[in-house]
Amino acid sequence: MKIAHISDLHVSGYNFVKEWGENLIELLHEAKPDVLVVTGDITDDGYIYEYEIAKQYLDRIKVKTKIIVPGNHDARNEGYRIFEEFFGTRYPFYEDEHVVFLGVDSTEPDIDDGHIGRENYPLIKEKLSNHKQKILLLHHHLIPIPSTGRERNIPVDAGDVLRLCIEAGVNYVLSGHKHFPWIWRLENTYFITAGTATSHRLKGFSYPSFNLLHLTDTRQGFIKIVDVKEKKVKVTRKL
Ligand SMILES: [Fe+2]
Ligand SMILES: [Fe+2]
Repeated sequence: MKIAHISDLHVSGYNFVKEWGENLIELLHEAKPDVLVVTGDITDDGYIYEYEIAKQYLDRIKVKTKIIVPGNHDARNEGYRIFEEFFGTRYPFYEDEHVVFLGVDSTEPDIDDGHIGRENYPLIKEKLSNHKQKILLLHHHLIPIPSTGRERNIPVDAGDVLRLCIEAGVNYVLSGHKHFPWIWRLENTYFITAGTATSHRLKGFSYPSFNLLHLTDTRQGFIKIVDVKEKKVKVTRKL
């Protein structure tokens, strides 16, 4: 299975780069992923006109299965309710024969900090308790990401959620928020953060990017980090 993981598009914002937006669509159409994962911050402030722009943009990406969770920017100004209106649920679930995906809203309205919440732990346990490859989608990162300045906004209950992921044998946790691509491995779980694909808000000398994951039935796979500006693969790593 080929999974494209994009994040932090901030499509309607001042820092959105139109050219990178077009590049991203082109690169995704070339890659032909089976599933497109979007880990939040599709808008800047969660307003309805922004959702309209973001939806129009995402509709242009021709991938049959799209799984989208909201980011802290999308939850602003009651945007979390508009998110549901446009995308159905803040807790998307999808599975095929080999892989199961669960998205969990890690945002709190008008607060940038992440929060999963004890009330959602049973959902994670139940949906990710089978023998398939298990993928959890969150906007917020559970482990600090280097080169992103002062640490903040990590979910307030990150410790409990990390333990939950390890105990449930989650294979991949995909997130965004930090605008910087990174991969951590803890026990048998990979924590993969996607950079911003289309926003000028880049850390240091980093580049706009998205991740391409190739998973096989034998649970060996690899990941590519694709530079959206230069339209080329910058990192390839075995998983
Ligand atoms: Fe963001
Ligand atoms: Fe964010």
